[in-house]
Parts: sequence; structure tokens; C-alpha cells
Amino acid sequence: MQQEIQKIKKLFLRDCKAQKPLKELEIQYLGRKGFIHDLTKTLASLPADKRVLAGKAINELKSFVLQKIEKAKKEPHELLKSPARVDVSLPGKRVVKGHLHPLTLIQDQMVEIFSSLNFSVLEGPEVETEFYNFDALNIPAHHPARDLWQTFWLKPATSNQQPATNGEALLLRTHTSPMQVRFMEKHQPPLRIIVPGRVFRYEASDATHDIQFYQLEGLMVDSQVSIANFKAVIETFFKRLFGKEFGGMRLRPSFFPFTEPSFEVDFYWTRKERWLEVMGAGMVHPNVFRAAGFAPGEAQGFAFGLGIDRVAMLKYGIPDIRLFYSGDLRFIRQF
Ligand code: PHE
Repeated sequence: MQQEIQKIKKLFLRDCKAQKPLKELEIQYLGRKGFIHDLTKTLASLPADKRVLAGKAINELKSFVLQKIEKAKKEPHELLKSPARVDVSLPGKRVVKGHLHPLTLIQDQMVEIFSSLNFSVLEGPEVETEFYNFDALNIPAHHPARDLWQTFWLKPATSNQQPATNGEALLLRTHTSPMQVRFMEKHQPPLRIIVPGRVFRYEASDATHDIQFYQLEGLMVDSQVSIANFKAVIETFFKRLFGKEFGGMRLRPSFFPFTEPSFEVDFYWTRKERWLEVMGAGMVHPNVFRAAGFAPGEAQGFAFGLGIDRVAMLKYGIPDIRLFYSGDLRFIRQF
């Protein structure tokens, strides 16, 4: 019996050293099915003279275990005595937090600025019909203007698939402009919207071109909206986005089938002391209003399409557009 008692005491001390949780120790040693209870049960089989001694020894063991556990409860650092396990003076481990993609960061800033100017934010489908991507934007089939947008066409649906449209050709939208007509079909002026979203071009990729990128479309329509309104809105936008690095803007004549007149918008970037081209824009073409079901002369407005990737590249000094889509964590973690 004495041997048994010594064995359990040793075991207990070893468990203490190993810093077993207190709750576990309590159950294992003092519990109703614990080691000490088991010992007490064997007492009955002992002859009377030995029983008294053994009983005393068991009681001693019990109070020893109890004391140790009670002490550890009151002074938690008792448990931490072994420096090999926890050194509370060590600096903590850095928790790696996730964060937003640089394109999302920039897009959020842009959305915030336009929202403050009362533009509503909406999104459109990435798989678009030929009608909204081209025809409704005054780009008829076989017109050379279609060559401005190299297109990923989708294979026509086979008989066992549900055709998404009445046999109409589908494509990956080459710009966010299709949302102009989609929105105007359902809403009457005055309207102000922006449409951020991903677009696709069937082109060779290089440092400044990729087969996918992000655009932010803008549209403002009312009975009277002029180029002066456009300049005011866009200048406000640039000033807010680039702060002190905004050194002025200029419009250069350009061509888009869905705007007339059309222009490229440049802004002067003081950090690099040069002009940068960041968006295509213009006054909405009457044929676009017609496609949306507006009566001639009923509405006036401007539209613009801004390259989000390009602005992000400028702001963050990113040399290659393909980095955005590479999934390379060494790149992503810098933001
Ligand atoms: N959709 C045009 C493009 O992708 C940009 C644009 C939008 C131009 C709106 C004028 C008006 O190139």
C-alpha cells in the first residue's frame, strides 16, 4: 500500500511539472473515480492494524494534492514557472490580417467620391449581349468602329442548354458602357450613375495591357447637361483623388461612336510633372438616347469611362498591370 501511495504521488508531481490543466488534475486525482478514491476503496481488504496507518497515509496524500492544486489556483504564475513553456515577457506573435486588393482600395475611393457628388453606384453583367455592348451604343454590326474593341465572343448555346437570350450573340463585355442603355431603359432623367466593373479585351497582353481590367463608367443625364458640368465633376473627382498631386486637366478631341463630341481626358500629375491620359468621355450621342427610348431632344448628358487599373498603377507606382491578376502574394502583401 505504501508503495502504491508513493507511486501516485510521483505521478502527480510529474503531471504538475508537465503543467497539466488544473481541472484535469482535480478530476484525475481527487475525483469520484480518481486515483485517491480508488486507494481508499482498497482499504477495506486490509487487516485492521494496517488499515489505520494506510488510511493516514492516504489522507496525507490527499491533502498534499489538494494544497498544491489550491495554491496553483490562487497564483496562476505557479503554473508558468517553467520558462521553457511560456515566457510572458516575450513580444507577442504578429497576427497576419487579410486586406483589400489594391484595385478594390482605389475603386472604393472613387466610389466614395462620386457618391458624395450624388452619383448612384451599380453593377452590370460581365457576360453581355451584342446589342447592349455594341448596337445600342451606335456601333452597328460590320461597322469598322467595332474593331476598337477586340472581343471575346461566347460560343452559341447548344440545344440542351437554356439560351440566355433569344438566340442573340453573347460576349464578355469590352467596356462598362452597356450599362448606360440598360439603366436609361428603366430610368428617367435626371440621373447620375457610376458603374465600376471588370471588362475584357481579346488582345495580346504586356505591361500596360491585359485581357481583363477594371473600368468605372459614369453617366449624368438631365434636360440640360453641358461639357462645363462634365469638367466640374471630373475636376472635383481628380482633386479629391490626387490631392496636391493634381495639377490641372485638359480635354483632347477623340472619337467614340456613342459620344459626340468625344474626348480623351488628361490630367497633369505634379509628382512626375507630366500629362497622363486616364479616361475616354463625351456628350451622349443622340442615337444612344434613341436606343434607350428617349424622345429626340428630351435629354442631354455626358458619359465617361475611366481605367481603374491605370489610376491604381499611377497612385501606387506599379510598373506592370499583370501583377494585379497574378495572385502573387509578395506583390499583394505590400498594400
Ligand atoms: N467605353 C469606352 C472605352 O472603353 C470609354 C468611354 C466611356 C468613352 C464613355 C466615352 C464615354 O474605351
